Amino acid sequence: MFNRTRRLRSSQTMRNLVKNIDFSLDNLIYPLFIEEGENIKVEIPSMKEQYRISIDRLEEELLELKDLGIKSILLFGIPKVKDLVGSEGYNDKGIVQEAIRFIKSKFPDFLVVTDVCLCEYTSHGHCGILRGEELLNDETLKLLQKVALSHAKAGADIVAPSDMMDGRIKAIRETLDENGFINLPIMAYSVKYASAYYGPFRDAADSAPAFGDRKTYQMDFRNSKDYLIEVENDILEGADIIMVKPGMPYLDVVKGVADAISNPVAIYNVSGEYSMVKAASENGWIDEEKIVMENMYAMRRAGADIIITYHAKDIAKWIKRGV
Ligand code: PBG
Ligand code: ZN
Repeated sequence: MFNRTRRLRSSQTMRNLVKNIDFSLDNLIYPLFIEEGENIKVEIPSMKEQYRISIDRLEEELLELKDLGIKSILLFGIPKVKDLVGSEGYNDKGIVQEAIRFIKSKFPDFLVVTDVCLCEYTSHGHCGILRGEELLNDETLKLLQKVALSHAKAGADIVAPSDMMDGRIKAIRETLDENGFINLPIMAYSVKYASAYYGPFRDAADSAPAFGDRKTYQMDFRNSKDYLIEVENDILEGADIIMVKPGMPYLDVVKGVADAISNPVAIYNVSGEYSMVKAASENGWIDEEKIVMENMYAMRRAGADIIITYHAKDIAKWIKRGV
């Protein structure tokens, strides 16, 4: 006698009946790169079909997203001017702040998430301020508070700090609360590894560090225990949503986080993961649609409630077509 597990795989209807992982556009967030300037829509060389877009060209993009049924977006800014302290990041008239205002005035239904960090705005490309080559934690917190507050004032629906300074969630929560934004959620990039998978993003956002790396603040992927400390800290400090980043190579971590907490868990399917899939499918080596959907289910199965992905538009098109 043996167990015939194939019984429940005998037809598509049977398989659909017993499947227990769902996937919906509702759970996706699509990242957008907004560049300061006029009439810009430039494809990012290492990220096929992803663009840097100026605010005056944003409307066509948002119409497309709306039409596709994508409801949530994550904004990154590319300023014209960078300096040592990243001041464009907390300028109330900065590129992301203006983009939020534009989106909220024309398309109020989009849920707008903003990346709170300084690396796109600093001349040295690090996620905070420096003394020599040392990244100063507590001094950086003050600037991150200003970034988050300026996004809140412009109308962001969620702020998402990605800097990996200690105490940033507490600092940002305090500033938001003091200024009346008690109901604005924080999505913390809690478990963020120092990863080569961010390479294409750094091309896109022009944010590669000018010297050194991010290993003194982003996490070491050779450790399988420290992620729970990060998650605990951020929840205690007031994070509402906990993110793990990168995505696919870290599904064990996603599972560990999802099993440990009751907050929603987000996963960032990052630029390098996207670019690898795009490159292989351009070469005809893989079936893009099938690979992407398999990856999406894998991330959901590991416990991700929310998936941040550059594939969102393609997925929406496939869903529309009926896959
Ligand atoms: C900024 C930030 C990065 C990403 C999201 N926010 C880059 C980094 O930390 O170097 C990476 C996103 C991606 O690779 O798609 N701190
Ligand atoms: Zn950063």
